[in-house]
Amino acid sequence: MKSYFRSEIEAMSGYVPGEQPKLNRLVKLNTNENPYPPSIRIRKLLADFDLDRLRRYPDPTADEFRDAVASRWGITRDQVIAGNGSDDILTMVFRAFAAPDLPVACPEPTYSLYPVLAAMQGAPVRRIALQPGTFALPDDFLEQVRGANLLAIARPNAPTGNSFPLSVMAEICDRFDGMVLIDEAYADFAEDHCAELAVSRPNVIVSRTFSKSYSLAGLRLGYAVAHPQVIAGLMKLKDSYNLDALTQAVGLAAYEDTDYHEECVTRVKEVRAGLLKELLNLGFEVVPSETNFLFAAPPGGDGEGYFRYLREQAVIVRYFPGPVTGRYVRITIGTPEQMQELLTVTRHWLSGR
Ligand SMILES: Cc1ncc(COP(=O)(O)O)c(C=O)c1O
Repeated sequence: MKSYFRSEIEAMSGYVPGEQPKLNRLVKLNTNENPYPPSIRIRKLLADFDLDRLRRYPDPTADEFRDAVASRWGITRDQVIAGNGSDDILTMVFRAFAAPDLPVACPEPTYSLYPVLAAMQGAPVRRIALQPGTFALPDDFLEQVRGANLLAIARPNAPTGNSFPLSVMAEICDRFDGMVLIDEAYADFAEDHCAELAVSRPNVIVSRTFSKSYSLAGLRLGYAVAHPQVIAGLMKLKDSYNLDALTQAVGLAAYEDTDYHEECVTRVKEVRAGLLKELLNLGFEVVPSETNFLFAAPPGGDGEGYFRYLREQAVIVRYFPGPVTGRYVRITIGTPEQMQELLTVTRHWLSGR
C-alpha cells in the first residue's frame, strides 16, 4: 500500500507502554502505579459533581488547578501549564524545541518516550551513556550535550531510580545553551527537587505527574512550571481542551488533600527501604532509589530469567533488554503484602537454580 505518512513517522517505532494485563490475582509491579487508593475526597466530589459541567466545555487552561499549583510553589499562574498526564507536557515540549535541525540530548538509559517524541519531530537524538553500575551522569556530560537544543533529564531517573546532585543540575542549567526539561515524575519520593531552577532560570522546565504519588495514573494529570514566556509558548501547542472537567476537579481535590498525600509517600518510602534491605540480603545489586521503584539485578545477573520466572508466578515487573539494562528488573514498590509475595517467589527462584 502506498504510504502517505511523513517519512519520519514511517521510519519510527511507536512508544510501547508497560503492559496492563487483564488477569486478576496478579501482583502488578510493572508500571510504577501507587498501591494505595487516591484521596477519599474524590469519592464525595464525584458523588456531588454537577453533570452540567460535562455538558459544557471545560476551562481550556485549567486556571483553578494552575492557581492551586502556583500558590503552593509561591509563583504565578502564568508560570504553570497543565497537561493530560505529564506525557502530554513532554509532547508539547518536544513539539516546541525539537526539529530536524534542533537536536535532542538525553541520558541513556532513561524514559523511553523521549526518543519516540524526538522521532516524531524528525529530530536527531544524542544519547549520553550514564556511568555503568552507578548510572551517574558522566563527568563530560556538558561537553557531550553541547549543540543540542533540548536536553531531557528525568530526575530521579527512570528506569534506574537514582537521582543526580542538585548542584550538578544547576550547573547544567546555567551552562547548557538550550532548553532543559527536568522530568520530575518521581520527585515526591526523592530527597530534593529542582523547583527553584524552573522558577529562577528562563531555560528550565520542570514537569510533574499525578500518576505516581497521587495514585491517579488512570486520571491523566500532570503539569509543568517554567518562565512565563516558555509557558506562553507551550500554550500555543497544547490541544485546545487538553484537560477535561472531571480531571480538573478531581486533580484539585487530590492536590489539596496534602496530609493523605504525605501519608502515602511516607508509606511507599518505608516499604521501599524494607524491600531494599531484603534484596541486598539475598545478594541482589540494587541502584539507590529516590523513586517508587527499585532497579535490581539478581545475583548472577540473569535479569531476563528472573523476570520470566516472576511472570510465570503471576508477579509482573518490568524488564528492559539490552547490554546495560538487561541484568536488572524494575520493581514497583507495592503494598507490604505484595513485597512479601515478590520475595517468596524470588527465594524460590534463587533456591531452584
Ligand atoms: C520519567 C517519567 N516521566 C513521565 C512519565 C509519564 O507520566 P504520566 O502518567 O503523567 O504521563 C513516566 C511514567 O512512567 C515516567 O516514568
